[in-house]
Amino acid sequence: MRISYRAHGGSHDYWQRRWDGVAVDSGAINRDRYPGLYAERVIAAQRPTGPVLEAGCGAGRVLRYYHDRGIDIVGLDFIASVLAAIRDEDTSIRLAAGDIGLLPFPDQTFSAVLAFGLYHGLEFGLEAAMADTRRIMKTDALLCASMRLDNLQNRVTDRMAAHAMGPGEGRFHKLNLTSGEFKALVGGAGFEILRLDYVENMSFLYKFPYLRHASQRVFNENAARGEGYRFNLLGHAAQRTAMALMPGQMANLAVITARAV
Ligand SMILES: C[S@@+](CC[C@H](N)C(=O)[O-])C[C@H]1O[C@@H](n2cnc3c(N)ncnc32)[C@H](O)[C@@H]1O
Repeated sequence: MRISYRAHGGSHDYWQRRWDGVAVDSGAINRDRYPGLYAERVIAAQRPTGPVLEAGCGAGRVLRYYHDRGIDIVGLDFIASVLAAIRDEDTSIRLAAGDIGLLPFPDQTFSAVLAFGLYHGLEFGLEAAMADTRRIMKTDALLCASMRLDNLQNRVTDRMAAHAMGPGEGRFHKLNLTSGEFKALVGGAGFEILRLDYVENMSFLYKFPYLRHASQRVFNENAARGEGYRFNLLGHAAQRTAMALMPGQMANLAVITARAV
């Protein structure tokens, strides 16, 4: 396991500032890309018979998408203000403020849990958080969770960020696990791993505006979060080639789909 550092006041401070700066998501997601593609495998393919939890729902793109389609879904996050902003848009959405390490739900509540970009933000208590996730899931419920990878892509990204940081500015930012460590974490908490996918959500190549799709050359976080981070032809070719040659090294995330046993 490797730790990434950035110049901010820690994970809660990072997310508070991040969500203070963006509007609530509309509930438009691209089902051909992360996270929609992976959420669909759990929600559309399996059609959960009980409630679904989106842990770390953030500005609500996934939560609102499924809520709008009639899925019984609850959004949990530790940033109360982003939940309040979602509630201002739609009072019918079920929301819970809380921490993934100490979930405010009884045992065996959920038929599926989606957790995108969440677990790697834990400075402490990663195993305990995964165990608590298992606790609130019914047997046979499905988990779909992503994890930042300990690989070349994220080492390059971190090196670029370290360049921009002043001496002594680095605070805990994210955990990075190898795919083997991620499988061991999930398997060790009482899940059978059904699949692991390597996902390139936001490549370091996206940091170069001339490789981005024309519609995203001027960065708009909400648009990029809804459509996915899109490249132009050159950027697309570079990204596809790199992913085809070395998926485990060029992906920034691994997504595990697993069954609670
Ligand atoms: C990468 S964002 C993902 C948001 C959303 N799942 C999506 O895909 O758009 C991670 C989210 O996890 C939340 N989060 C981070 N650590 C958390 C914790 N310990 N407990 C609950 N939520 C947390 C952050 O506030 C943030 O909204």
